Amino acid sequence: MISINKELCNRCGKCQRVCPAFIPVVEQDKAPYVRHPEVCIGCGHCVDVCATGAFLNDQFSPESIHTINRELLPSPESLMELIRSRRSNRTITTKPIPQSSLDMIMEAARYAPTAQNSRQVQLHLITDDEALLRVEAATIGYFMRLARVLLSPPIKWIARLFLGKLYDEVPALYAMNEQFKQGKRPTICNSTALLVISAPKGYDFGMQDCNLAYQNASLMAESLGVSQVYMGFVQVGMFMMGVKKASRILGIPENHKAFAIMGLGMPAFKYQKYTNR
Ligand SMILES: Cc1cc2nc3c(=O)[nH]c(=O)nc-3n(C[C@H](O)[C@H](O)[C@H](O)COP(=O)(O)O)c2cc1C
Repeated sequence: MISINKELCNRCGKCQRVCPAFIPVVEQDKAPYVRHPEVCIGCGHCVDVCATGAFLNDQFSPESIHTINRELLPSPESLMELIRSRRSNRTITTKPIPQSSLDMIMEAARYAPTAQNSRQVQLHLITDDEALLRVEAATIGYFMRLARVLLSPPIKWIARLFLGKLYDEVPALYAMNEQFKQGKRPTICNSTALLVISAPKGYDFGMQDCNLAYQNASLMAESLGVSQVYMGFVQVGMFMMGVKKASRILGIPENHKAFAIMGLGMPAFKYQKYTNR
């Protein structure tokens, strides 16, 4: 239910100006009212902008609405320094990631915007060692099968003409496979946790929403001193295996696609500098 408390409303009209669905109607000398509330997308702009608490939207309980503490906000300079210093740090150790850090990384991802506030993004954290190994084995297995096909005589003579760049990657794939045989986990960069960010297969903005969530989470990881690396190899491998098989390996719903995967872990050391971009 959406309504405006006429006694508390000071007719400032801010709710009307921020609502993407044009629901509130606030005019100076008339009682405020709501129009077609059924089209509300649940973004919460109305309750977040109302200074007097006159706007009531039962999707948001009083406990779920918080006053912004502006003193806690980073300065533009400190935010820029965090953005500049965020790097992919692949020196991941076996030291466990504190649960509180994982919780904050997930919360940061959840606060990312989604198209039409549809919030269809799902976060799934893999920390179980066997499950991590399953992801690594499936990814390296896929890329080794691909490498063998690419190098098989009839295919390599023709495909090299069109897929030259892909052939440049083949030695790296074999090197990764050697590392895997030695007990390392090269495609997941020895991550001790994987954050799988997925959305329903047919959802139009899955790619965008998931990668916005990724970026929020990666900045939070950096600020907590947790390593993060974008898991492109895993993502491509999972895409190529098909949604059904990939969802089984990753432990996500069958109709979901992993549009972004983050490798996480505690680094052996931190970067001291950043270079210009
Ligand atoms: C779409 C995408 C896929 C990536 N895939 C991998 C990957 O599979 N393995 C890896 O070690 N790094 C991967 N990276 C990390 C990039 O190599 C890294 O972001 C880039 O070299 C810049 O370094 P920086 O993150 O430290 O700024 C990926 C990055 C992006 C954006």
